[in-house]
Amino acid sequence: MPKAWTRERKREYYYRKAKEEKFRSRAAYKLLQAVKKRRFIKPGDVVVDLGAAPGGWIQASRKIVGDEGFVLGVDVNPIQPIDQPNICILIGDVTDPQTIEQIRELLPRPADAVISDVSPNISGVWELDHARQIDLAQQSLRIATSVLKPKGNLFTKVFQGDMLNNFVREVKQHFAFVKLIKPKASRAKSAELYVLGMNFRQVK
Ligand SMILES: C[S@@+](CC[C@H](N)C(=O)[O-])C[C@H]1O[C@@H](n2cnc3c(N)ncnc32)[C@H](O)[C@@H]1O
Repeated sequence: MPKAWTRERKREYYYRKAKEEKFRSRAAYKLLQAVKKRRFIKPGDVVVDLGAAPGGWIQASRKIVGDEGFVLGVDVNPIQPIDQPNICILIGDVTDPQTIEQIRELLPRPADAVISDVSPNISGVWELDHARQIDLAQQSLRIATSVLKPKGNLFTKVFQGDMLNNFVREVKQHFAFVKLIKPKASRAKSAELYVLGMNFRQVK
């Protein structure tokens, strides 16, 4: 079977599944698959979702945390309201230092998990896109270390490339357990993968 054909079918599969299950993006399945594997979001958790538009990860994490949990979605672009309690939306830029204070003010308590699918506009130049993505992942790490409770978790998107190892080293300074995850719903050909840091420990 030609690979391009298989890839296209897979994309179509998640696209249709998202439509049927009323998720706003196919990306929702990347999060659900990763959580199924590593359980970094649990019922009752407080979750901060960075780069949340159009809202697939907000819906998916709200499903996991349930009525006792809380999800805050943050994006530079507006997100259409989601008609469910315990979901809050903030228009904000992860590179703006003020965003951390705004997040803190909106959370009922320090977060159990920070998830970030934040992504730059893709230029098609591999090195440039890689560097921009790592920079956004670093901003997500900075936010996570400011809003997470001790033992909280971070799940953040990166692109493969030569700056990845340094970023993983940085994450290891703050989290006891660190893994790279490539969910099935993420296209095999794409450079995208996710860094999971579990058990946040504050660096003194
Ligand atoms: C791949 S999309 C996220 C999809 C989302 N996880 C979902 O399931 O619907 C990446 C998002 O990152 C946002 N973004 C890019 N740069 C940002 C920044 N500096 N601050 C906040 N959001 C940003 C974009 O606006 C875009 O909505």
